[in-house]
Amino acid sequence: MKQVVVTGTGLFTPENSISNDELVASYNTYVDMFNAKNASAIEKGELEAMTPSASDFIEKASGIKSRYVMDKAGILDPETMVPQIEERPNEAPSLQAEMAVKATQQALDEAGLEASDLDAVIVACANLQRAYPAISIEVQSLLGVEGFAFDMNVACSSATFGIQMGRDMVRSGSAKRVLMVNPEICTGHLNFRDRDSHFIFGDVCTAVILEDSETAKNKNGFEIIDTKLFSDFSNNIRNNFGFLNRTDAEKRDDKDKLFIQNGRKVFREVSPLVAQMITDHLAANNLQASGLRRMWLHQANRNMNNFIAKKVLGYEPDFDQQPTVLDEYANTSSAGSIIAFHKYKQDFKAGETGVICSFGAGYSAGSVIVRRAG
Ligand code: COA
Repeated sequence: MKQVVVTGTGLFTPENSISNDELVASYNTYVDMFNAKNASAIEKGELEAMTPSASDFIEKASGIKSRYVMDKAGILDPETMVPQIEERPNEAPSLQAEMAVKATQQALDEAGLEASDLDAVIVACANLQRAYPAISIEVQSLLGVEGFAFDMNVACSSATFGIQMGRDMVRSGSAKRVLMVNPEICTGHLNFRDRDSHFIFGDVCTAVILEDSETAKNKNGFEIIDTKLFSDFSNNIRNNFGFLNRTDAEKRDDKDKLFIQNGRKVFREVSPLVAQMITDHLAANNLQASGLRRMWLHQANRNMNNFIAKKVLGYEPDFDQQPTVLDEYANTSSAGSIIAFHKYKQDFKAGETGVICSFGAGYSAGSVIVRRAG
């Protein structure tokens, strides 16, 4: 069986960042405007007054301090509260494809490869900006890759599911070198007028190159020891946006056509499940949690990650063992654990082992055990 190795990772970070204070100031201005406009209905008890948001709640409940965004002005304008992203002509590269190409270049550099060395492209992310043609085929064309490409969506677990797909493809021989890339424009599906969730997401793109260790140029990559995927249906994280929305004019603009979640339930249900999944995955590979150098966990909630890591390891890990990027990037859906891996992998010595783990809507979860080669 071929040994598949991650030989390169890449990260595209948008230029603009929004702090909690900036986001909350915009939200609270909107709340004041809403309450003033509806003062008489609120007074009569016909309408509930909106409640302000608070930066200290956001940081304490989630660990998020800021997020990068593709458009800052539109999100912060209390009149719009939506990123303003102009539609491009069909002849121009789409925004997601453009982000993907930028992240890929960095991954190719690390792998010591040219785009023409790749023969398969997987775009794996929670939201695709159009139905077709596939964004991945556009990325393939922009990069000049001969072979095939496809899009896939398993929400926040798209990247780990994509890594398993890419690994299986290299192992079976259906592809030699796979690009797995995650262009996440999460602010496009976030309801910035919803107090419970307006602070959650940010935008980013990550890229991963997977290839056969025998033919890899970069001999210090990360061997994939094993992957394990899990899914179990739940309505607790949902987005009903889809092509049938236009067929029901009365409901097409309802709040459920953007991201909605029951965050408390997600926290309670998913955390133990993921801890058990990683524990079982390590055991199935005859590995001890005590031998893990690092866990690159999905970046949705700092307290959730602390719970999971403590359950797996048996003690509270420090930043080095369980790094977070949530403070700077917020939740970037499928890209979160890959950002953590990208930023915190260079200090690994040959033979050291770690786990990349994602979890989210579906429910879905993925665990990827890696070991530094060399
Ligand atoms: N500002 C101030 N207070 C807020 C607030 C805001 N923006 N949003 C909610 N609150 C208040 C609530 O009204 C509630 O007040 P109460 O106790 O007086 O009723 C209190 O804070 C707690 O609300 P709750 O929604 O239970 O917060 P929480 O501690 O569960 O944190 C999340 C919310 C979303 C941060 C957290 O549940 C979470 O991250 N869950 C996991 C989600 C996840 O992993 N999802 C995957 C997505 S891809």
